[in-house]
Order: sequence, then C-alpha cells, then structure tokens
Amino acid sequence: MTNHQITLVKNTWGMVASIDPVTVGGLFYNRLFEIAPPIRAMFRTPVAEQSKKLLTMIGYVINKLDKLEDIIEEVAKLAKGHVQYGVKAEHYSIVGEALLWTLEKGLAEHWTEEVKEAWVLCYTTLANAMIAAAEDVQAAA
Ligand code: HEM
Repeated sequence: MTNHQITLVKNTWGMVASIDPVTVGGLFYNRLFEIAPPIRAMFRTPVAEQSKKLLTMIGYVINKLDKLEDIIEEVAKLAKGHVQYGVKAEHYSIVGEALLWTLEKGLAEHWTEEVKEAWVLCYTTLANAMIAAAEDVQAAA
C-alpha cells in the first residue's frame, strides 16, 4: 500500500470508529449472515461483544499498516484461533465483502473509488497474512 492509501484508510477508519461500535457491528454481521447464512452458526459470542472485538482488532491492525511485520505474530495467533472456529480460506472474501459494504454505508459520501481501492488492498493484505498463517498450522498438523 502507498502512504497515501494508508492515510486514507486511517482517516476513514477514524470516521467509522466514531460511530457506535454496536451499530457498525450490527450492520456488518447482518450483512454477513445475509450473504452467507451458514456462517451464523459459527458465531457463539453475542453480536454486540463480537463487534467490539472485531472493531478493536481492525483499529489495531490499521495503526500498524505501515509496519505489519511488527504484528505478524499476533496476526498468526488470530489466524490459528480462526482455524479452531472452523474458518476456511474461502470465508475471507465473504467477510471482506460484508466489511466493504459496511464501510460504504458508514462513510456515505466519503466512500470514493480511491477510498474503496485503499480498503480492498488493506483487507486483502490482512486476509492473505491470516490465510498464510492458517495454512502453516494446517501443514504442521
Ligand atoms: C481479517 C479478517 C478478520 C479479523 C481481523 C477477525 C478478527 C476477529 C477477532 C478479534 C475475534 C475475537 C476472538 C479472537 O481473538 O479470536 C474473532 C472471532 C471470530 N471470527 Fe474473526 N476475524 C477475521 C476474519 C474472519 C473470517 C473470514 C471468519 C469466517 C467466517 C471469522 C469468524 C470468526 C468466528 C467464528 C469467531 C469466533 C466467534 C465467537 O467466539 O463466537 N473471522 N475474529
């Protein structure tokens, strides 16, 4: 990602993070379960609590976008947990779709083509890191 794209993601995330996390999370999970109904059964934690965890984690990763290598171990740990939850590589694009849709709703007129491209790159980078870490665990098992 370019520095400009990182700035775009950080600034727009700041806008979304100022909205109530339960509202943002509600939008996200409703959309996710609408796109892929079977995914609902994988979630045990109540949506409100789950939303806070997810948003905190995204915020954390975004803060480190310019030095992802610093948090690679945490990303790997998160990915391993996801293997236990039954998450497969193909789920990442579904979650990405729900996330982009949520950002579009939350950002309204601030959701431009340029912002979208920056977010696609950001999510793809994170998702690919998680998928790679999950593959390592599976290969070792
Ligand atoms: C970059 C993408 C993702 C991020 C940043 C993320 C983040 C998180 C976080 C922070 C948690 C809280 C528990 C923990 O620390 O393990 C969690 C739990 C979970 N995530 Fe993700 N996740 C991502 C992708 C996915 C995908 C693709 C799925 C597939 C459907 C998924 C399904 C779940 C499930 C089932 C749980 C456990 C829920 C529960 O305890 O009820 N996540 N995720």
